[in-house]
Amino acid sequence: MSELGDGTRCVRAGLPEPAPGDPFLPGPVFAAPYHLDPWQGQGTSPNGYGRPDNPTRRLLEAAVGELEGGDCRVFATGQAAITGLLLTLLRPGDTVVLPSDGYFPVRAFATDVLGAIGVRVLFVPTVGPYPSFEGVRLVLVETPANPGLDVVDVAALAAEAHAAGALLAVDNTTATPLGQRPLDLGADLVVASGTKALTGHSDLLLGYLASRSTELIEAVTKWRTTTGAVPGAFDAWLAHRSLATLDLRLARQSANAAAVAELLAGRADVTAVRWPGRPEDPAYPVASAQMRRMPGVLSFDLGDADRVGRFIDAARLVAAATSFGGLHTTADRRAQWGDDTAPGFVRLSCGVEDTPDLVADISAALDAAGGV
Ligand SMILES: Cc1ncc(COP(=O)(O)O)c(C=O)c1O
Repeated sequence: MSELGDGTRCVRAGLPEPAPGDPFLPGPVFAAPYHLDPWQGQGTSPNGYGRPDNPTRRLLEAAVGELEGGDCRVFATGQAAITGLLLTLLRPGDTVVLPSDGYFPVRAFATDVLGAIGVRVLFVPTVGPYPSFEGVRLVLVETPANPGLDVVDVAALAAEAHAAGALLAVDNTTATPLGQRPLDLGADLVVASGTKALTGHSDLLLGYLASRSTELIEAVTKWRTTTGAVPGAFDAWLAHRSLATLDLRLARQSANAAAVAELLAGRADVTAVRWPGRPEDPAYPVASAQMRRMPGVLSFDLGDADRVGRFIDAARLVAAATSFGGLHTTADRRAQWGDDTAPGFVRLSCGVEDTPDLVADISAALDAAGGV
């Protein structure tokens, strides 16, 4: 059979073989211990104790692994996956390259924890220039980067990292595995927050890591089991259920982002509009070559915090909220969280509302917000 489409892959991802009388997606298995064989202990059973073993979690891992094209391990949150990766791989004396313009808690963790245990941390902007990777153990990039939406050529970076003996990990949160497949582009690892567009209903926290290397997956699994950074069965089940509609949600979010970016770019009172899917965007040449689909997230500048407040207040369809990738359109003034962004910088995450409704609402809210 030829390669299945995204919608087909999402709706079938990780489901068990059909059996008469069984549900399509089995319900969550709530268990801390499982029954053991009184003589052989766990024996050949896949389930002994809930921290290492849960069948609901394994089905979700099969699903995300199928979409990323590798083996997957899910974590309680994206931060748990990323910090788990860093602490699994890095030892005192190692050097790691991290994005200077990516998700800021990763930078805080690197400075506070990695720095304190003697790991050398180099912060580099997503667009580079990158230093020589000689002596580097791990390069982690976010592409598109949150919140600035810059993009880096993953295949080129993978070649450079591998030539120097370094590993390349890509944070695939913003793109999702439908937007890009970093393992196909040569990355060794994918990490991501599944809290965002992957699950998309703003009702759970999740993280994951994927790789084609058995050795890396085993090391990370061991880390997860000993630290206990696992999601609960209900969240894992909810995530799997939500994953089935990723293709549909992303299609609408992306179409909405295209229309909103067009609207914003055409207004003299909005500056610094960024969306990697716009041909005028600096990220477009690389993004359009390496990405399969564009995200629903864009950014722009309204000049100051007060105007951002007036804009969100006036909008009926834009909620003030952090996070992104959900069903509802949300706006976040990133400077309030400590991102190194201008005071009026807004990250807008387009939801699945009807495009004309969203464009009309944002347009009217900007009119109502007035100037700086
Ligand atoms: C790019 C990126 N990576 C990782 C994370 C962390 O994910 P979580 O909030 O699920 O821990 C986030 C959260 O916003 C993110 O935007």
